[in-house]
Formats: sequence, C-alpha cells, structure tokens
Amino acid sequence: LFGATGQVGHELALLYRGEELVALDRYAADLSRPESLRAIVREVQPEVILNAAAYTAVDRAETEVELAELINHRAPAVLAEEAERLGAMLLHYSTDYVFDGSKREPWIETDTPAPINAYGATKLAGEQAIAHVCSRYLILRTSWVYAARGHNFLRTMMRLARERAHLRVVNDQWGAPTPAPLLAEATHSLLELALDPGRGRSQQACGIYHVSCGGKTNWCEFARAIFAEAGLQVEVDGISSRDYPTPAKRPHNSVLSNEKLIGNFDLRLPVWQAALKDLFPGMTPQRTTDPGEAFTQKISCA
Ligand SMILES: NC(=O)c1ccc[n+]([C@@H]2O[C@H](COP(=O)([O-])OP(=O)(O)OC[C@H]3O[C@@H](n4cnc5c(N)ncnc54)[C@H](OP(=O)(O)O)[C@@H]3O)[C@@H](O)[C@H]2O)c1
Repeated sequence: LFGATGQVGHELALLYRGEELVALDRYAADLSRPESLRAIVREVQPEVILNAAAYTAVDRAETEVELAELINHRAPAVLAEEAERLGAMLLHYSTDYVFDGSKREPWIETDTPAPINAYGATKLAGEQAIAHVCSRYLILRTSWVYAARGHNFLRTMMRLARERAHLRVVNDQWGAPTPAPLLAEATHSLLELALDPGRGRSQQACGIYHVSCGGKTNWCEFARAIFAEAGLQVEVDGISSRDYPTPAKRPHNSVLSNEKLIGNFDLRLPVWQAALKDLFPGMTPQRTTDPGEAFTQKISCA
C-alpha cells in the first residue's frame, strides 16, 4: 500500500490490518522518485499493489506541475510496469477532475476525459499509462473525498465554523461527496470479488470504475448539511465560482455514474447524505470490529 497516511490510504491500512499488508508512507516510498519504486515492489513481491498516494493539492498543482506529474503520472506508470512484471493486480485511484464538467448527466467511464486543470491532467496521464502497460488493473475514479482526518472540505468547514458565523460557499459546482472509509470498504469488497477466480469475474473486472456516493450536491449545500449534522449555527450563502476565483479551474458537473460498478459487482454506495450522517457523531468514523460487517451496513451488496 502506497500513501498509507492519506485519507484513503489510512482507511485501507485499517481495513487490511491483520492481513499481509506492507503499508508505506512517503518516507518509505517516495513517488516523486518513480524509479526508486521498482526495488520496493521487487522486494515485497505483492499479489496486489494498492496505490492511494497522489499529489492532491489541486490549486498548487498549477505551479508545481512537474512534481504532480512525477507523483500522479510517472510513479503509477512504474507501478504498472512492475505489476505487469510480477503478474500482480494494480489498484489505483483517480478523479472526477479528469472530466471538463460540461455534461449535464452523470459521467460514465467511456465518456471522453478532458481535464481543465493540471491536477486532472496528471491524473489522466497516470490512468492512461497504467492502461497502456498493465493487464490486471483497477482504476477507481472517485470524487470529493473527505474523512474525519486529513485535509478536506468537511474539516475546513468545521474549522471555519469556529471562527465565523457566516460563510459564502460556491453553489455552481456539482458532485458527490464520498467518505474515505466507505471508499476503502468498497475497494476491499471490489478486490475480493475481482480476485476470486471462483466468481469468474477476474477477466471482466479489470478497467476503470466510477466509485462515489449516490446523489449529487454542490459545495454550498454540502456545507449546510455538515453544519446541520454537527448542530452548528452557521449561515451559508451560495456564491458563484466567478466570485471565488482559484488558481485551478473546477468542473461545473463532476457527478460520476456508478452504473458499471453496480452492474458488474452489485456494489452500491449510499447516497451522500446518509454517508455524511454515518461519519458523525463526533466526527469519528463508526467502525465495527469486522470490516465486512461495516461494509454490509453501509453499502448495499446484492
Ligand atoms: N481528496 C479528494 O477529494 C479526491 C477526489 C477524487 C480523487 N481522489 C484520489 O483519491 C486518491 C486518494 O486521495 P486522498 O484524498 O486519500 O489523498 P490525500 O489524503 O491527499 O493523501 C495523499 C497521500 O499521498 C501521499 N503522498 C503525497 N506525495 C507523496 C510522495 N512524493 N511520495 C509518497 N507519498 C506521497 C501523502 O503522503 P503525506 O500524508 O505524507 O502527505 C498521502 O499519504 C488519490 O489518487 C486522489 O487523486 C481524491
């Protein structure tokens, strides 16, 4: 597991606790030095490589393109080559920001990506490099990831709520907030299904999947839902992206259709409101001792 300290990586490390997992942080495996990853993979000889590491600072990527490119494109390319050499499965995450946001309906896996910012472009290049060299891969595109820890919108809102009673938040970018614990649980289940030859899914399994919560919202509505859930009195006004300029452009619509995931694996994440509720109370992700049990509670698995 690369990126074991990130939002998703941390949850994966918890889920795979007790199994044969080698969890690596940036000091053990630095993705900005892609060639150095070969020796690590060759030493560990994994059956599955989980890559939860990424350059995720969307605005900073506009000025640190080379670094983002190394981490989001070159490093996954090396991991894909090494996975292929070993016959291992590579599970990698990508983003809704590979799309330009112009579609009215939810994006499907076969829609043409056209990133409008540097982060999205480097993530798309990573996807393409993996698909080019690796025959056993799963790329999970997700959106608006948050958790009770790490850098994310929910934690930013909770911090701002301590400082201000009135906030202005953009209301013209649409997506589906997806908690890291749920994404990790979905990953765990998906991998079990994909790796189980008895289910005959391994051949059809490989490829790109959209994995995000159901429904859609905008950042302003999401902020209001967070404060309602937290019982905080904060007034939130909606503003247009034009009134909140950022170094990186964001897609207008980045809602992902999960139909392929549902059709191929019978896996469905809950709607974003239910997932948010689940992350409270106390912003402590609720976790049972059995990850499988937690999964079936939160994700309908036919
Ligand atoms: N966050 C989102 O809203 C979002 C949305 C769509 C898709 N995704 C994708 O989902 C995946 C997981 O994202 P996340 O939200 O868990 O990201 P995150 O919380 O920002 O974690 C990123 C991880 O990558 C590690 N990392 C960064 N630079 C590294 C380097 N040079 N060498 C090794 N590790 C490095 C970080 O290490 P440190 O902890 O040491 O910094 C951290 O463990 C990523 O592929 C991301 O692109 C995220």
